[in-house]
Amino acid sequence: MKIAIRIFACALFPHIAAAAEISAHRFDELKMNCDTCHGVGGVSVVPDQTPSIAGKSERLLVAQLKAFRAGKRRHDTMGFMGGTMSDEEIAAIARYYARSKR
Ligand code: HEC
Repeated sequence: MKIAIRIFACALFPHIAAAAEISAHRFDELKMNCDTCHGVGGVSVVPDQTPSIAGKSERLLVAQLKAFRAGKRRHDTMGFMGGTMSDEEIAAIARYYARSKR
């Protein structure tokens, strides 16, 4: 019965289920990569080369990461980065940078 309820809950609230799926380790690993180019917390030190992503809207960040992943927005590095991320990981990382102070 418990399992049935869980499956039902996942179908109804996929975003909640997804948020719980990404491990702290994986999140830290991703964040470290992004910070290397985009600056600590997403505040770029070379904004003319790599844009700041701190404080940008969560929807914009998710949309751009998915566009890079799909090759709709073309950029070698970000295409690669996007390709390494699942929907759940994109959601978690976008939420983090959207809440980061610019
Ligand atoms: C090796 C460097 C590098 C790494 C690592 C990297 N990025 Fe980027 N990112 C860039 C560059 C350069 C651009 C600008 C692309 C362009 O000109 O279209 C960019 C663009 C973006 C954009 C679009 C911003 C906008 O305003 O449209 C987002 C969102 C983004 N990166 C998120 C991330 C996230 C999240 C990670 C970590 C998972 C990450 N990036 C890792 C270099 C990097």
